[in-house]
Amino acid sequence: MPAQRKLFVTTALPYANGKFHIGHIMEYIQADIWVRFQRMQGHMVHFVGADDAHGAPIMIAAEKAGQTPPDFVAEIAAGRRQYLDGFHIQFDNWHSTHSAENTELAQDIFRHLKARGLVASRTIEQFYDPVKGMFLPDRYIKGECPSCHAKDQYGDACEVCSSVYSPTDLIEPYSTLTGARPELRSSEHFFFRLSDPQVVDFLKTWTQDKDADGSGRPRLQPEMARKAGEWFEAGMADWDISRDAPYFGIEIPDAPGKYFYVWLDAPIGYLASLKNHFDRGQARNHWDPASRTDAGFDDFMADPAVEQVHFIGKDIVYFHTLFWPAMLRFSGRKTPNQINVHGFITVSGEKMSKSRGTGIDPLKYLSLGMNPEWLRYYIAAKLNGKVEDVDFNPDDFVARVNADLIGKYVNIASRAVKFLEGGKLVSSHLEQFAPARLVDSVKDLYEAREYGKALREIMAAADTVNSYFDNAAPWRLAKEGGRVEAAEVCSVCIEMFKVLTACLKPVLPELAMHAEAFLKSPPLDWDNAAVPLGEGHQVGEYRHLMQRVDGKQIDALFEPPQEAPAPPAAAASVDPLPGGEAIAPTITIDDFAKLDLRIARIVDCAPVEGSRKLLRLNVDLGEGRTRNLFAGIASAYQPSELIGKLTVVVANLAPRKMKFGVSEGMVLAASHADEKSQPGIFILNPWPGAQPGMRIH
Ligand code: 2FM
Ligand code: ZN
Repeated sequence: MPAQRKLFVTTALPYANGKFHIGHIMEYIQADIWVRFQRMQGHMVHFVGADDAHGAPIMIAAEKAGQTPPDFVAEIAAGRRQYLDGFHIQFDNWHSTHSAENTELAQDIFRHLKARGLVASRTIEQFYDPVKGMFLPDRYIKGECPSCHAKDQYGDACEVCSSVYSPTDLIEPYSTLTGARPELRSSEHFFFRLSDPQVVDFLKTWTQDKDADGSGRPRLQPEMARKAGEWFEAGMADWDISRDAPYFGIEIPDAPGKYFYVWLDAPIGYLASLKNHFDRGQARNHWDPASRTDAGFDDFMADPAVEQVHFIGKDIVYFHTLFWPAMLRFSGRKTPNQINVHGFITVSGEKMSKSRGTGIDPLKYLSLGMNPEWLRYYIAAKLNGKVEDVDFNPDDFVARVNADLIGKYVNIASRAVKFLEGGKLVSSHLEQFAPARLVDSVKDLYEAREYGKALREIMAAADTVNSYFDNAAPWRLAKEGGRVEAAEVCSVCIEMFKVLTACLKPVLPELAMHAEAFLKSPPLDWDNAAVPLGEGHQVGEYRHLMQRVDGKQIDALFEPPQEAPAPPAAAASVDPLPGGEAIAPTITIDDFAKLDLRIARIVDCAPVEGSRKLLRLNVDLGEGRTRNLFAGIASAYQPSELIGKLTVVVANLAPRKMKFGVSEGMVLAASHADEKSQPGIFILNPWPGAQPGMRIH
């Protein structure tokens, strides 16, 4: 057995202002598989996460919700467990950056950086919202583009003409929080001096060193090391690490009214969560006896053998490959051993927004009774060690789970067990399947996060076992009096099923547990994976190990939350409300500006086969192409009535995969809240003169 490794593993800390989306779940699954793989080797692993609780957006979101920021983030934190347990993601600890541990660690790191002369103080000018009484982060400033004069553009770049500028260049700037005109005010900020030659030299070596800890495993994937190289070429700027009150964050020592910028204390939250885990005692980590240690947090982190491994997405590489190692090194701490970067998850090719996620709602997935290990398997099958995006394709998902996982792997046990007499294994020869070689190869692939390749090897092995079974035809042998031979064939298959189970265990922990119970095997690990259960071993009664995915579940998963069209807006303030629906909570002009409503011409319209509710519309938004969309208006309109008419479409709604195809927008229509007792749907129709493509303001 190789020497026991000591691993400290984290995933990126999610902002505590929203629920988990499928992107979070993908990252946690990726890391959880790796952790389980390591634990199967007997390595010590501490796998921790936390909420990223600080920053202006969370402070503002809390205010909108009428809560204090700590209460607001606590409520979000309380919702995390159902996702983690639901998808069999086994963190040892989940903590928060808004914690005593993080405050202590962040302040300590800052003091060290300051003592080394790496903190500079400079006065900068920034926009200030006089109504709100706060300095405005760029994202809360909008105005007219100085180049093309498009209105309502953000402070950094114009979405219409793509020109880049600073907030102070905007014409008629306004605060999106209050609508007030921001004033330029100066204030003192602290900067981490990343441009200092000692920091630059350190980072150059740190990011480019191919075998830093002598393990043969690079700190960064080659493409990320190249990216870091490009950043150095462009030059390192000092990093503004302070924010003025009011701010939800950690106070900077000896600087009243100054707080750490959220991105300074966020990664320190990795350490805070680990410290909290240690301080609470090791006994909680009941699933991993190898992790029990008497060492405290400080001892553990001082141990040079400890490997610090971060799993993150490709959007936060700069923070993790430059700021974070520099903060650690120059405060006298150990730096990460691996930064494992993954791409984004798209759904049917649709890009995910960080705040909205994608068409897959993880909790809906679970509430539909869909097996979490289907998703683990599918995501693993698509993942590799590179920084590549992963696409969730519904048809591919059904095919992989049903054809591979159930059709190949589960199938072996269900068909082979029938010909074992009393469940007893007889002598079996596995040489032709080279199980030890399979296990070694799969282990290497898990280590390198090449999960897709690992699963392909495992499924190829399952194919050979199934072919062996088909060719040997034990059912025929049994019928023709060759019961012993049939049992021999099936013993081979069951032994190989056990090997495959061990190989799949990091991805499918629950399925493996049920398979172990059926096999009556000890808990499978990498030491016993290729060791046969042996002649005379008696397996248990076979119960079906996994259901197939039902196409209806996938349809339901992608069914939009409410099929009902949007409520009428204009009649909102009359009482009683003719729509019968209470007015939705107040939104800001900024919220409204997110909606891109356009005039559209209905070029074509047709019924949808298999749906009484939907019509398929082909609409022209003046984009030089037409869009396909579905609307639940078949009860109210004949397709011929609509062709050629103008209407209003939400143009920037993420495309949604529906049972009948992808819908690239939504037609606005009015209806009563209770459509059953008060039927009627009325689509909007602009006054004459409106043209396709015009925006509705
Ligand atoms: O991008 C994000 O979602 C950040 N909350 C990630 C922080 S990772 C770490 F630094 F805490
Ligand atoms: Zn512009």
